Amino acid sequence: METVNKRNFSIIAHVDHGKTTLSDRLLEYTNTVAQRVLEAQHLDSMDLERERGITIKSHPVTLTYPAKDGTTYQLNLADTPGHVDFSYEVSRSLAACEGALLLIDAAQGVEAQTVANAHLAEEQGLTIIPVINKIDLPSADLDLCLQQLEDLLAIPAEDAILASGKTGIGIEDILEAVVTRIPPPRWTDYEATRCLVFDSLYDAYRGAIAFVRVFSGSIKPRDQVLMMSDHTRAEVKEVGVFTPAQKKVDSLEAGDVGYMVCNIKNPADIKVGDTITQNANPAAEMLPGYKEVRPMVFSGIYPVETNDFEKLKASMAKLQLNDAAFSFQAESSVALGFGFRCGFLGLLHMEIIQERIRREYGVDIISTYPSVVYKVQKQNGEEIEVDNPINLPDPSHIETIFEPTIVAHIHVPNDSVGDILALVMEKRGSCERTDTLDGTRLILECILPLNEILVDFNDRLKSITRGYGSMEYELGDYRPAKLVKMDILVNGEPVDAFSSIVHTDKAHTKGGELCTKLADIIPPHLFKIAVQAAIGGKIVARDNVRTMRKDVTAKCYGGDISRKRKLLDKQKEGKRKMKNIGNVSIPPDAFIKVLKND
Ligand code: GTP
Repeated sequence: METVNKRNFSIIAHVDHGKTTLSDRLLEYTNTVAQRVLEAQHLDSMDLERERGITIKSHPVTLTYPAKDGTTYQLNLADTPGHVDFSYEVSRSLAACEGALLLIDAAQGVEAQTVANAHLAEEQGLTIIPVINKIDLPSADLDLCLQQLEDLLAIPAEDAILASGKTGIGIEDILEAVVTRIPPPRWTDYEATRCLVFDSLYDAYRGAIAFVRVFSGSIKPRDQVLMMSDHTRAEVKEVGVFTPAQKKVDSLEAGDVGYMVCNIKNPADIKVGDTITQNANPAAEMLPGYKEVRPMVFSGIYPVETNDFEKLKASMAKLQLNDAAFSFQAESSVALGFGFRCGFLGLLHMEIIQERIRREYGVDIISTYPSVVYKVQKQNGEEIEVDNPINLPDPSHIETIFEPTIVAHIHVPNDSVGDILALVMEKRGSCERTDTLDGTRLILECILPLNEILVDFNDRLKSITRGYGSMEYELGDYRPAKLVKMDILVNGEPVDAFSSIVHTDKAHTKGGELCTKLADIIPPHLFKIAVQAAIGGKIVARDNVRTMRKDVTAKCYGGDISRKRKLLDKQKEGKRKMKNIGNVSIPPDAFIKVLKND
């Protein structure tokens, strides 16, 4: 097909504003996928995605649309994830496009990620088509949405298309706008072949598969190509398009979106954001915007059953194949045995990976308290990075500890502003700016330590605002903070899995909470057990586990020794599953209970 008849676009929105539903309607309208095949929702194919209702991976698809002008167009659509943890994926999907549909839920209006995504699209120079979606809802407030478009995004209200992914209203208008408003593929005249890798997938038989947008030139099987970020060479085995299933084609030309299979086995050799060019006639410059994704949140993951270590390792390796942003490395803990230190983009990413290990690979796991990456300036001038509290140097060697911060944009209803500001203060944040969003809401720009928002910030924001608040953040700079390592001692022994890095002002409260919780969870023993929180050897909080003797044979009268033995064996079995810290047994779920939103 001629390049001028191709259009590449993406759909961006705040979480739950209806991207997937609308994409499915577009597929159905253009007969790309028959309705009956459109299972509940076609583009959200991972089970977890369906259950949580969030798009994790972007799924490209090519549609054919005979427009009103009599021309048939090839439309390449990229569905993008909506959550902040995955914003690098959003920006790569956008880099593969010339335009974007910006969806706004008619009942919710513009939210934090609507603004953030619109800015990402503008930065990439994309044409934005605003779509007010879900207009079938009785609670839809069109006037408010149109007003917000103008006030908050500086997009003229008359550009907006009114639609409903549910009923199909506006679908044709959207397709017409895509072909008339979005320009044909850009940068096609460049003298060498350049393809942007915007995603990748691992296939057990074919190896690593790159999802590419061809900007100039073409690629076909047997071409020798070059990955420009690290100069890896490879031979192309197969190219194809997404229908949405992969379909082999002879070649991919400028403006096309498709996949490319090379003789590359290691998925890490294919980097999202990289530029692929022909080895024989290489491009002089990469396509703009490549950046290595770096994990921001770290946590230890351990098998509940020691025997599951190898199984856990294998499942992590498999997960990593399709998720280059997830990293893991073997480590050991005195309390938990052998496991892995894992890196994630954010908390949602972490929860998803943990859930997938449990569900798809059937391994029971325990995770340690999440941590961010601290920069530690030592007395001797050396600077080190610490992502695990147990690696924090002795306080006497530390000059300053720097912690990562975020710049958050929080949208809140006017009546919750006070409570949200109190929450920001509690989390050691500061509010730098407030702007009115409309008559009923404000935008707060806040700087917060990343560490403080890890566990429950979003949940609390949602509960304070009864679901109406939303937030979006980007990473800020590193700032010095008064931080210390807090150890938890059970019966005098430190339990490394519970160590955390805390702010000195919060050490007392947090230590107290942890001790009480843990003392409550550890089953009564025959002797008295103290649970203590300590900072550099100084105890800052303490609690005690109840004492009790549990005689399992008490109810077993008579002299039947075999029955007695059975009961004792059963008790032994129960004990075996506990983690022994010195002579104290801690049930494995104690770690989860304590580590989970304290
Ligand atoms: P993420 O991928 O998590 O960002 O979500 P999404 O934007 O893909 O939203 P999705 O399509 O999953 O829709 C979210 C919810 O809104 C679902 O419960 C849909 O059934 C509902 N929904 C989507 N479109 C419409 C619509 O046009 N009208 C109504 N009434 N409901 C809709």
